[in-house]
Amino acid sequence: MSFTIAIDGPAAAGKGTISKEVARLFGLAHLDTGLLYRATGARRLDGMAPLEAAQALRAEDLDRDDLRSPDVARAASEVAAIPEVRTALVDFQRAFARRQGGAVLDGRDIGTVICPEAEVKLFVTASDSIRADRRYRELIGKGVDTTPEAVLADLRERDARDSARATAPLKPAADAVELDTSTMSIEEAVARACEVIRAAM
Ligand code: C5P
Repeated sequence: MSFTIAIDGPAAAGKGTISKEVARLFGLAHLDTGLLYRATGARRLDGMAPLEAAQALRAEDLDRDDLRSPDVARAASEVAAIPEVRTALVDFQRAFARRQGGAVLDGRDIGTVICPEAEVKLFVTASDSIRADRRYRELIGKGVDTTPEAVLADLRERDARDSARATAPLKPAADAVELDTSTMSIEEAVARACEVIRAAM
């Protein structure tokens, strides 16, 4: 039997951390779908055409060390606005979602487009300043030289592009449960997500 949990939301709202922890606690497979777009964006920066890059994507490409950089994040959001690129990545995501034993997928359009039939849909948000602060600390921790202002501007630009695009924009599914993590610890956010999931099992 397959059981799919769709976790969407803007950048740095906490969906990655929540998804990993929920997958571990419930023994489910986890796919960070942002990595598909980041790997496509990284190949684009290497000079490949975006559609060709998306079509040629292999599992090993998702392990590239540079996928978390701000430049790749921006390139990811640019290639993600191309409808053909999104189409090229649909089958892989749906096959992952339907695997035996269940799966957690996190991204922007999982509950709306990739898995509209998901058993659980969460839309994770946090205020702009909290998200920028979290991402700033993460980047500094990795040795990236940046400022809080630059991080905030980057997040806003990316969210605006992700929300405004015509194909699969960032938005909550009508039946998604919204989880605002602005004033929550990681433990509180995970606990709340687990409550929603248990109620659907
Ligand atoms: O989640 P992450 O920040 O790694 O995603 C990078 C970019 O990939 C996003 O800004 C968005 O443009 C794109 N993306 C998407 N649909 C998804 C996941 C990510 O368009 N399901």
